[in-house]
Amino acid sequence: MKNHIIIYFAAVLFVFTSSLIAQENKENRFVDSLLNRMTLEEKIGQLVELVTPNSVTEKMLSNGNVSSILGIKDADIANELQHIAVEESRLGIPLLFTNDVIHGYNTTFPIPLAEASSWNPGLIEEACRIAAIEAASNGTHLTFAPMVDIARDPRWGRIAEGSGEDVYLGSVIAEARIKGFQGNDLKSKSSIGACAKHFVAYGAAEGGKDYNTVDISERTLREIYLPPFKASVDVGVVSIMSAFNDLNGIPASANYFTLTEILRNEWNFDGLVISDYNSIPELVKHRFARNKAEAAAKALTAGVDMDMAGDDMKWSVYAPHLDSLIKNKIISEKILNESVRRVLRVKHRLGLFENPYVDKDFYKSNMPSFSERKNTALRLARESIVLLKNENNLLPLKKHLQKITVIGELADNPHHPLGPWNTAPILENVVTPLDGIKNYASKKTEVEFIKGCNVEGNDRAEFDRAITAAKSSDVVIMVIGETREMSGEAASRTNIDIPGVQLDLVKEIIKTGTPVVVVLMNGRPLTIPWLDENVPAVLETWFLGDQTGNALAQVLFGDYNPSGKLPVTFPRNVGQIPIYYSHKSTGRPFNGNDKYTAKYLDVDITPLYPFGYGLSYTDFEYSEITTSKRNYNSDEIIEVSVTVRNTGLIDGEEVIQLYITDKFASITRPVKELKDFTKVLIKPGETKKIKFVITPDKLSFYNIDMDKLVEPGEFTISIGGNSRDVISKSIIIND
Ligand code: GLC
Repeated sequence: MKNHIIIYFAAVLFVFTSSLIAQENKENRFVDSLLNRMTLEEKIGQLVELVTPNSVTEKMLSNGNVSSILGIKDADIANELQHIAVEESRLGIPLLFTNDVIHGYNTTFPIPLAEASSWNPGLIEEACRIAAIEAASNGTHLTFAPMVDIARDPRWGRIAEGSGEDVYLGSVIAEARIKGFQGNDLKSKSSIGACAKHFVAYGAAEGGKDYNTVDISERTLREIYLPPFKASVDVGVVSIMSAFNDLNGIPASANYFTLTEILRNEWNFDGLVISDYNSIPELVKHRFARNKAEAAAKALTAGVDMDMAGDDMKWSVYAPHLDSLIKNKIISEKILNESVRRVLRVKHRLGLFENPYVDKDFYKSNMPSFSERKNTALRLARESIVLLKNENNLLPLKKHLQKITVIGELADNPHHPLGPWNTAPILENVVTPLDGIKNYASKKTEVEFIKGCNVEGNDRAEFDRAITAAKSSDVVIMVIGETREMSGEAASRTNIDIPGVQLDLVKEIIKTGTPVVVVLMNGRPLTIPWLDENVPAVLETWFLGDQTGNALAQVLFGDYNPSGKLPVTFPRNVGQIPIYYSHKSTGRPFNGNDKYTAKYLDVDITPLYPFGYGLSYTDFEYSEITTSKRNYNSDEIIEVSVTVRNTGLIDGEEVIQLYITDKFASITRPVKELKDFTKVLIKPGETKKIKFVITPDKLSFYNIDMDKLVEPGEFTISIGGNSRDVISKSIIIND
């Protein structure tokens, strides 16, 4: 019997593998047959993306001089341009339409840093499925997302666009987003291609200054910045975007080591690499290329397949220069052919040759209903909210309050909840914090709104009105933070305090004695020590998108018990940066009092709030950790369990986090690293037994010889509801 089962599964595996090989051969035959018919001009045309639709002429399309266009957001326009490319060009190669669908297309979900706070990859994937079908129905074939850059410097505005500081969480979320966008069938009309960006280490920009220099060791590159890209490639991402920054002296958009040796030779990535916007001509600004012709040669040779040009052909460097570079044998046509092959392969994988046009009828019966999309946005928004403080259980608010005063420009402006990077948002769909509070408060409750002050500037004219209103209120809800323009691209800040006079207004309102709830709306960790010390309740809501107000109100009034956990450390002040949980021990770890230890004279070395931190309206108690045994071999699976009890009075979801510490190694290792997590709902009084499986790869690292392996020795397994408050148990890995 057993033999029969083995034979059966072997046969199934053989058939599956054979079909994959056959599919790949068919694809390669198609691509090669097309490539062999292309002229040099047509080949070069396949490597050019133009950024704005209105710069594209019919002649460019009928000559096959443009391969891709960024920014088409209308099915009819897409079909019109596609018709010219497919029906009027010599070979009929379809156009690839791209857009930045970062956190939603028409339905705007929370910004990625907020979504990461949900620690719910399944829900993030669900949101990306909705974004994909909305985008595809409007002509988009590929999104320039997910941004998978690990970011440990909140001065960097683009920390808003990623999943925070952690490699494991960032990799899990990258996979979820790509699976959401690409679905199970890339040729499906409900799927779009994804693009993992920005390759690589863009988030390590010196000083948190956007576009700035990155200089890190190969070990740090491989341990921290590459893994989310590797996870993206392993889950089948069809494209990668090369970054603006220079990396260890070589610009990322001309870096043969990363783009070819790692991405192609080590990882076998066979999708396409597209440059970030003008990052190829910027090789001249890097002073890495003397001119644009040399920039084109260096980028193509390094492995950048497609040139994301600027506003029109004059911005492209591949279009005007590759012809002469090839004819003068400065670069071989073989290299050009390989890039063209990858572009054609991705277009084939996306089904553009079979279905180049938007089938509008398909979306009439396949688009999820508005309420379904709204419901996903609401669930993801409320799960993205992190409760940072709740003194004396001020929250949740009672529903039958007499008067609530809502203060802050951000409370009543539908523009800001959208956060940075929107595609085709529908402003009238945005529920502001004020809308949400009015929707959920009882009809008998008076809700008064006073702006109080702007996010920026020092206008205090409305302070008195706000103070007067606060004095006659049961509670004041202050929505403060950043405008949506203060994070995202080209939005680095050296001062990450609360901008303007918002904090001064909070201080005045606190003086009234009326209880205050501060709701933060921001795209990065802010330095908020005064709030932590003086305000009874603080919620981190980031930018939550369309359903901001409803999600916030459900948390404020207790219809949803907050479950969010920080994906990034909150520093006490900007001087602590970089500060992250998986730091090294150093030879003089601070022990609380010794002078000559790794510490500051003027601030505690601990963060204000650690990675993985977030409170609930209930409490959770962790039991002893149990492991299947104490001693393991380096190739063994380690089974771990822990029991978690809800000791409170209401349901609560807890993100149970598992960290590993390698106690001794051939190189210095982080004090701990996240290696697994699970989010579970636990009812009041209920105890749940949670099991984890630690596979050898979760213990491996790049050792002193840069070999990735498990070194024998003692490891500590730590489990808890954040990276600081954990229970631990040691195990031994034998030789
Ligand atoms: C921008 C961004 C990149 C984006 C691209 C196209 O400069 O760096 O993330 O996808 O240009 O908009």
